[in-house]
Amino acid sequence: MRWIAAIFALLVGLETTRADDAQAAKDATIVETLLRLKTIDVNSNQKLKDAVLRHLELHRGTPKYVNLIDRLNVRGVETALLQLALADPASTEGVHAGELLLKREQAKLILAQIDSDDEAVATKAVSLLGYIGNEEATEILKPLALDNHRTRPVRTAAANALGRSRLGERFLLRVVQDGRLPADLNFTVANVLYASTDDSIRMEVAKYLKLPATAGSKPLPPVSALAKLSGDAAHGKELFNTKATCIKCHKVRGEGKEVGPDLSEIGSKLSREAMFVSILDPSAGISHNYETYSAILDSGNIISGLKVSETDDNITIRSAESIDKVIAKNEIDELIKSSISLMPADLQKTMSEKDLVDVVEFISTLKKKTF
Ligand code: HEC
Repeated sequence: MRWIAAIFALLVGLETTRADDAQAAKDATIVETLLRLKTIDVNSNQKLKDAVLRHLELHRGTPKYVNLIDRLNVRGVETALLQLALADPASTEGVHAGELLLKREQAKLILAQIDSDDEAVATKAVSLLGYIGNEEATEILKPLALDNHRTRPVRTAAANALGRSRLGERFLLRVVQDGRLPADLNFTVANVLYASTDDSIRMEVAKYLKLPATAGSKPLPPVSALAKLSGDAAHGKELFNTKATCIKCHKVRGEGKEVGPDLSEIGSKLSREAMFVSILDPSAGISHNYETYSAILDSGNIISGLKVSETDDNITIRSAESIDKVIAKNEIDELIKSSISLMPADLQKTMSEKDLVDVVEFISTLKKKTF
């Protein structure tokens, strides 16, 4: 008897798929017709709209999805567009979804994400505007880059996003010329403008900003150019463990101190470009849990470092030299979270450009082991 039940279940299954197919075919016809008859407002008839929404579901994740929403002027799908845009801001799909939101005067949805407490979400929404790169997106980005109520990662992301369009580059250059650029964005903006394809922008920025200098005071090329160079990983490893002092703060496969994050798998986490930024401008994006704290003591003394543990009575602060100090809470006047990384910002000064490239070559070989 069991096989009868099985066949019966199969038939019901077939039946429903056939019904689904028929429905899908009908929906597709409705959509075709609506596309041809441009006079009907999809949003005014729930049955039509349901057909369109069902059809759209079948095309989620394809370029057709945003295209249909746009052409049929389907309303009420803005949240889905936002999700799509933020899922991958650096893709055609993501950019189209974002463009459509702006076209529908829904910039406020993107802005709400930028206001998020979650920094990863906020910076993603900012970079979406950079990839859209049109006039409206640029206008939203301009004040963000200069708004000192925003966190440094958000302002840095805004400056990088502005660097994706000529309008944005010109704005950044003007801010630099007027002396209005916050000093903590010098590195980011110098990198953006020194990498401009417009000769006059590159020449002009050179009068105001310098890229970080290596040993012998030779300025480095912008990060985008550095990331294209390949180096000598073995020499990089030697530098990492000696002159470059990385080992004094980072563990690699069990060796080294633990002031900064373990770098044993950093090659699977960061792009080469991001690695150069981590070394040349550590405070641009401080890794989670590695923020610097300063404990101001009643005595007037200040102890800075990472907060490695906390009990009801004590706080343990680890210094840049990897020394842990236990401080009684009742001795602390104030505990301040700093926006400056414990990683020194001028490590490249002890190295040549080639040395730096070699160090990055080495750390990019540190990948997750796949067994
Ligand atoms: C005085 C300690 C110190 C030294 C020296 C140091 N770092 Fe760091 N590093 C840190 C700390 C703390 C962080 C985490 C805070 C941050 O992201 O800025 C960090 C972060 C990083 C990151 C980002 C890690 C991540 O998970 O995103 C990289 C990459 C890095 N360091 C590479 C290096 C290299 C390469 C050197 C040597 C040229 C070096 N560091 C030297 C303390 C140090």
